[in-house]
Amino acid sequence: MATKNIMVLPGDGIGPEVTRQAVRVLEAIGEKFGHTFTLSYGLIGATAIFEEGVPLPEDTLKQCRASDAVLLGAIGHPDFDNNPEAKVRPEQGLLALRKALDLYSNIRPVTLYPSLVDSSPLKAERLVGVDMEIYRELTGGLYFGDKERTADYASDLCAYTRKEIERISHQAFKAAQNRRKKLTLVDKANVLDSSRLWRSIVTEMAKEYPDVTLDTMFVDNAAMQLIVNPAHFDVMLTENMFGDILSDEASVLSGSLGMLPSASVGTHGAMFEPVHGSYPQAAGQDRANPMATILSAGMMLTYFEMHEEAALVNDASLWALDAQVGPEDLFPTAALPQS
Ligand code: IPM
Ligand code: MG
Repeated sequence: MATKNIMVLPGDGIGPEVTRQAVRVLEAIGEKFGHTFTLSYGLIGATAIFEEGVPLPEDTLKQCRASDAVLLGAIGHPDFDNNPEAKVRPEQGLLALRKALDLYSNIRPVTLYPSLVDSSPLKAERLVGVDMEIYRELTGGLYFGDKERTADYASDLCAYTRKEIERISHQAFKAAQNRRKKLTLVDKANVLDSSRLWRSIVTEMAKEYPDVTLDTMFVDNAAMQLIVNPAHFDVMLTENMFGDILSDEASVLSGSLGMLPSASVGTHGAMFEPVHGSYPQAAGQDRANPMATILSAGMMLTYFEMHEEAALVNDASLWALDAQVGPEDLFPTAALPQS
């Protein structure tokens, strides 16, 4: 029996409704296993901008720092997406939080669910053997490099240090050791110096992990291989922006972007969030898929070393999918349960 302080940041769009379902799951687990999950709530993103003028209020950050883990819904709002001149943006809240907690390692598992094979845009035979984990660097690269902007010029710098590359790479190698022992580094080393630094450091590090087979792939090819031969990948390691793009692409292998959970771990704690965005068109209608957030809560339980509890969340999710209980992105014609 354990006590954990969980900071819940519902965020924008469908964030509140999907986190509500994940919280119900955590409460059920707490009750069944006798754990005390103390939940606190805070503002982030557009919701925080509208209420407090900033995307990451100080109080939210303070409470996140004091928590054992953070559960986040989604960030983003069309008012800002359609206004490139906006001075504050919802996404800045998420990026500032990742940076402040130094959550450098973003882990995005891509799992194939047999009952969803028909929902995938790929033919079933292409999906055989799909089971990968994307290790996306989360606190460097283009997202955080120096920026410049005038009326006629703009630049975003893609910078990486050896330390930034090494720390996530160690985690990716270790993950591969516990899986099928294959690591694919995705980069653009034929063009970018930052990618060449990644490649030389990761290739050197591979000597420390002789049981892991390292291969390297240019990002444009990786985007194609994810479609033509997705089973190739075991652990994929990549920098921030490439990982953002490829993880959305990889998510549809599972049948829906609404299925992909993620964990962001680092120096000062951990945060768990679905890979999908705020889906404003569906907000407030309780029809968005909460699975990615529920599975993210499951990853949180694994992080707490509550393995039996995490397995139960995964099993229950599989059961629900097999029973065709789920929202419209998964089962467009199935009736929704009433409660
Ligand atoms: C993600 C999202 C975020 C990102 C946005 C909301 C800033 O797309 O977590 O993948 O680009 O990292
Ligand atoms: Mg993304």
